[in-house]
Amino acid sequence: MDPTPNFDAEAHLKRRQRLMAEVGDDAVVAIAAAPVKLRNNDAPYPYRQDSDFLYLTGLNEPEAVLVLTPGAKVEQTFFLRASDPDKERWDGARLGIEGAKEVLGMDAVFDIETLDAKLPGLMSHRSKLYYLMGQHQQFEQHLNELRADMHQRSDMAGPTTVVSLQPLLHEQRLIKSADEIKHMKRAAAISSQAMQHAMTRALSASNETELHATLLHTFTEHGAVPAYQPIVAGGERALVLHYVTNNQALNPDALVLIDAGCEVCGYAADISRTFPVSGRFTDAQKALYEVVLTAQARAIEAVQVGASYHAFHEAAVAALTEGLIELGLLSGSVDDNIAQAHYRRFYMHKTGHWLGLDVHDVGDYRIDEQWRVLEPNMVLTVEPGLYIDHGDDIPPEFRGIGIRIEDDVRITRQGPEVLSREVPKTIEEIERWMA
Ligand code: GLY
Ligand code: MN
Ligand code: MN
Repeated sequence: MDPTPNFDAEAHLKRRQRLMAEVGDDAVVAIAAAPVKLRNNDAPYPYRQDSDFLYLTGLNEPEAVLVLTPGAKVEQTFFLRASDPDKERWDGARLGIEGAKEVLGMDAVFDIETLDAKLPGLMSHRSKLYYLMGQHQQFEQHLNELRADMHQRSDMAGPTTVVSLQPLLHEQRLIKSADEIKHMKRAAAISSQAMQHAMTRALSASNETELHATLLHTFTEHGAVPAYQPIVAGGERALVLHYVTNNQALNPDALVLIDAGCEVCGYAADISRTFPVSGRFTDAQKALYEVVLTAQARAIEAVQVGASYHAFHEAAVAALTEGLIELGLLSGSVDDNIAQAHYRRFYMHKTGHWLGLDVHDVGDYRIDEQWRVLEPNMVLTVEPGLYIDHGDDIPPEFRGIGIRIEDDVRITRQGPEVLSREVPKTIEEIERWMA
């Protein structure tokens, strides 16, 4: 079994080396694979590796542990399940100890069954223990029990301090390397194709289920899995931000909002489009759509090296507020509506988030209480929307319309690179594609 498809041993080694340099020689780092989760008796959920573990090792198996001891003769010790033909008959191939030695680029590889015997020796005489606090309760508890045992022994000095590994590791994950960008481009390309197929399918579909099926079909035939539960929201179901039931009849006069992305080698895409089921926008739909489209374009323009993380949200809010005033859905000045947050009646979420191994990826948005500054090879989503309620003060033609347009954007010195640019987005592009 491959650790992960397209595994790049060199890239993973660099990540572990950087982490070791950062924690220093009096530290030990221990990180465990995600456990299998049971859906119910004997039936597991599809296995998804812990993103941090995947990032450092590339191994897509449960019951494995990485221990880093910077400065030691053996710096990278890896534990995983040994080959076992009987078990592999039931659950599929394992990489095994010999396989891990060949491909993972570790210094030493052992059977996971020997972890408890070896771990105290690895932790001994290192003052700090780094692990993922709160991420893997059972492993965390186990580490601390071992540490307590060590303190009872005269031949070993267990780590006296425990440190959260997340800040260092997540800061590293925030800047994507070339191999990560490659996976993200592929995830975006497959997701873009899925969205294009769903647009075509809408013309003949009578229920949201059919569009949901089209998305899954496209992901699956490319060997990808959904990065999150897709949203296929016809008409006013789009006003429910996390609608995932995806089983209601499609009204040919309405819009349908699809928010869907797949995962490739663990890396997510996250794309939204909103389009008319019939392939033709009504005037009211057009008017609202243009507001969101303009907001998205201005927000993407604000995704620049050196800009504040907050700038693209502010750009979207300003454009949406201007548009809402022009359409008569808000009254007064742009500044007052922003200052008093009146736009939030129609736009209640943020304009984006980091994207990577997790769809809402790790990494701080603020440093020392200030919005952080954008750097090359950060990747984020830009996803403004408008969600118009049924209030008596809303002109009837606008009521119950929900629109979101979401793209995945890589930050480069040459400007924003839209990874999901293949999906039709302007009114003209969508109508032309659907025709
Ligand atoms: N699909 C989840 C999001 O857009 O954040
Ligand atoms: Mn989304
Ligand atoms: Mn998103």
